[in-house]
Amino acid sequence: MSTLLPILLAYLLGSIPSALWIGKLFYNTDIRTKGSGNLGATNTFRTLGKKAGIVVTLLDILKGTAATLIPLYIATDIHPLIFGVVAVIGHIYPVFAKFKGGKAVATSGGILLGYQWPLFIMAVAVLLIALKITKMVSLSSIILAVVFIIYTTIYGVITGDYLFMVVIYILAIFIIFRHRANISRIRAGTEPKINW
Ligand code: G3P
Repeated sequence: MSTLLPILLAYLLGSIPSALWIGKLFYNTDIRTKGSGNLGATNTFRTLGKKAGIVVTLLDILKGTAATLIPLYIATDIHPLIFGVVAVIGHIYPVFAKFKGGKAVATSGGILLGYQWPLFIMAVAVLLIALKITKMVSLSSIILAVVFIIYTTIYGVITGDYLFMVVIYILAIFIIFRHRANISRIRAGTEPKINW
């Protein structure tokens, strides 16, 4: 199998704009015109409610997980984490939504689930603790990215798993970069807080 095909598959998987499609199919709503305008789980919860938010969260996680599992089904020498990163690129720049996608958090989590599930549990725990304290999903996502940079640096140096370290750095940079508008709003004190 050529190298390009499984990579393309990972990109197409990541490109599935679940927030857009669920909104259009079941709520007759384009969530790009609502709330933060982001094609992600948080904006789905915000604009379409709990049920849609949960479905989009799960689908976005699944995209990352499915991409890391591609080597189980297609013979390839490419490392599973590379497929995960490609799926995240698809999620951020989806071919099915004019290359304007989400902020990489759930799909990155899906990579952890597919690669080392205990790390996924750790990520969920960090996110929930940060959410409890800050009440802002965006700030909690940024905190999660920073915690993972610190954790992976220590883990990478101890175990020598430098590929994992670099992948986490890339995902964390994507997450922080995609939250630029949120960072401005947090600084201005206008970022919305969640209502438990
Ligand atoms: O995962 C995205 C979240 O951190 C922020 O989403 O819609 O508040 O910009 P949003």
